[in-house]
Amino acid sequence: MEKIRLALLSGGDSSEREVSLSSGNQVYNALDRDKYQITRYDPKTDLLKIVKDADKIDAALLILHGPNGEDGTIQGLLDLLKIPYQGAGVMGSSVAMNKVAAKKLYQQADIPVPAYLYFEKHEKLDTDTCLQTLGLPLVVKPANAGSSVGIAIVNDERELSSAIKKAFEQDSLILLEEYIRGIELTCGVLGNIKLEPLPVIEIIPGHEYDFFDYKAKYVAGATEEICPARINDIVKDQVQALAVAAHKALFLKGYSRTDIILKDKNLYVLETNTIPGMTETSLYPQAANAAGYSFSGLLDRLISLAMDKE
Ligand SMILES: Nc1ncnc2c1ncn2[C@@H]1O[C@H](COP(=O)(O)OP(=O)(O)O)[C@@H](O)[C@H]1O
Ligand SMILES: [Mg+2]
Repeated sequence: MEKIRLALLSGGDSSEREVSLSSGNQVYNALDRDKYQITRYDPKTDLLKIVKDADKIDAALLILHGPNGEDGTIQGLLDLLKIPYQGAGVMGSSVAMNKVAAKKLYQQADIPVPAYLYFEKHEKLDTDTCLQTLGLPLVVKPANAGSSVGIAIVNDERELSSAIKKAFEQDSLILLEEYIRGIELTCGVLGNIKLEPLPVIEIIPGHEYDFFDYKAKYVAGATEEICPARINDIVKDQVQALAVAAHKALFLKGYSRTDIILKDKNLYVLETNTIPGMTETSLYPQAANAAGYSFSGLLDRLISLAMDKE
């Protein structure tokens, strides 16, 4: 069998560059050398090289997070070059990256979300109205970011202005959200035509962390992740149905991972990741593992879905 000529992209120039590079290394090590002839590219320096090599590339595996990687820009370049890649296309990637656009599509599909307000940098932002509408605590986030970069939980109204300023440093569009105190869950979806929801994972950041912030996400042992989540079958089915609904609502493809909070008996969707973390111990590979996929088996499946072989 001829080997698939695979372009592995990692790095990039977003605030998640380091995460992407370390995932990229693990993916590189796990890929089956009998199936793939692999060339690595870092979009930060190698865009022209990708263009030059395009007719020698059968498929691309994108291990990129955040703007200029997960948001449709790289996807658009690869579309122009006719290189298939795993996961969502241009439109799905860009609406999922933008938490405001995603929320509007979720709401259109009757997917429950925390109450929110959003502002562009040039708009007048009346903090009193925000506090009245959303109460305290509330969450401030940049619309286009990931790995909790620029996100703050505001417990005291005196912290609000600086949280807003910090979020605007990441993006010219920000959201303020009702804080949902509950159990954090995340649920992956896999497939093109038949969408398979993966086992649900429960996320418990260590006590020293306010929430699932950057450190809680990436410091080894900082967060407890329980798979399958300790929820009953009815809630599990609801979470999986929401993850599939979110995947469809945002026009995604191949795979995705939706973050959800369970409070009392209510579920709230926070966001959907179109290129979820891809170290072997990241949430999506963990859930896939519980569904019977080894890490390299998962990568095979993602590449086969990218090439529309199924
Ligand atoms: N409305 C909210 N209520 C409670 N916690 C939240 C809320 N929004 C975000 N968080 C916390 O912040 C983390 C990151 O938020 P999320 O919307 O998933 O953005 P990111 O793209 O950075 O992962 C969540 O995993 C959760 O711990
Ligand atoms: Mg998240």
